[in-house]
Amino acid sequence: MSLYSLARPLLFALEPEQAHHLAFAALKAMPARAVRHDPALAVEVAGLNFPSPIGLAAGLDKDAVAPDAFLALGFGFVEVGTVTPLPQVGNPRPRLFRLVEDEAIINRMGFNNQGQAAALERLRARAGRPGIVGVNIGANKDATDRVADYAAGVARMAPVADYLTVNISSPNTPGLRALQDAGALDALLEAVMVARPAGGPPVFLKVAPDLEAADVDDISRIAIARGIDALIVSNTTISRPSLRSAHACQSGGLSGAPLKGLALQKLRDFRAATGGKLPLIAAGGIASGADAYARIKAGASLVQLYSALIYHGSSLPRRIESELLSLIRSEGHQSIRSAIASDYP
Ligand SMILES: Cc1cc2nc3c(=O)[nH]c(=O)nc-3n(C[C@H](O)[C@H](O)[C@H](O)COP(=O)(O)O)c2cc1C
Repeated sequence: MSLYSLARPLLFALEPEQAHHLAFAALKAMPARAVRHDPALAVEVAGLNFPSPIGLAAGLDKDAVAPDAFLALGFGFVEVGTVTPLPQVGNPRPRLFRLVEDEAIINRMGFNNQGQAAALERLRARAGRPGIVGVNIGANKDATDRVADYAAGVARMAPVADYLTVNISSPNTPGLRALQDAGALDALLEAVMVARPAGGPPVFLKVAPDLEAADVDDISRIAIARGIDALIVSNTTISRPSLRSAHACQSGGLSGAPLKGLALQKLRDFRAATGGKLPLIAAGGIASGADAYARIKAGASLVQLYSALIYHGSSLPRRIESELLSLIRSEGHQSIRSAIASDYP
């Protein structure tokens, strides 16, 4: 029996945000240690050498408080944020719900964060440490010019980010996802790429899973034309596949196991639309080596997870890594590299 299977009932007896703060504090208190990854898991994306394709998705370490602690759990990379230019409190509580029977989460946090200046200071303090840390940026809820918020975030966070993620897919900031519409997206990405300093980090774009086929085509075309370095597919969904939990009707973004099928389908759609011209990073319902492997074969170079960590605990990244290694070897691959997009002969 793992330590987490003992701790989980205690954590789950707490209100979800309280449990989050407690687990976070425990993690931060753990001694930092270097983690070795099997060289067969190394992947290069956008000029960055990822030691393992399994990353922590944005939203857990919103304020860049403990990226090194998450790297020490065995994540191959950590995405902090979403950070907005100014601090903001987010939506009123309750805004985070566990759907235990569904192994899912619904959140309507609304980009609660301490602002980019605080994250910048923390990331400056860890400069020079090993480990890939990406910074996910967003716009303040009451910004009069959201494009200007993204441009400012790119310019400001570039010096401390191994990569930047432009997040226009959170369902919890009203109107934000409209930036995924073709005209708005083109103008946004133009401004973002102009704002990136010369020699600055690669820029990834994170999209919603609730997109029509025409949106997928438009986003793929514009992202390629504007020189985006990778797409993250996907954020949480506003759809509600059949759910058992009493919290199923809460508004917000759904993540975890019920998102798995939709996120995989969107990954396939983006792979078809981009024709392999743009690296893809998969997120949504990944909880095992088999889940990660299915995304990699469907075209993902990297994967990210959040919700499964809540249900399975801090040993999950290492477990997924060892399951993934067994799977690639059992199918005759020497390394993860040759497994990427192997669904498409
Ligand atoms: C509580 C919570 C907060 C999140 N906050 C953010 C965020 O600030 N920015 C972002 O890009 N994604 C955010 N996400 C989305 C995750 O990064 C991820 O894309 C999504 O949850 C699907 O992955 P999962 O099923 O492994 O959780 C959040 C997810 C959860 C559950």
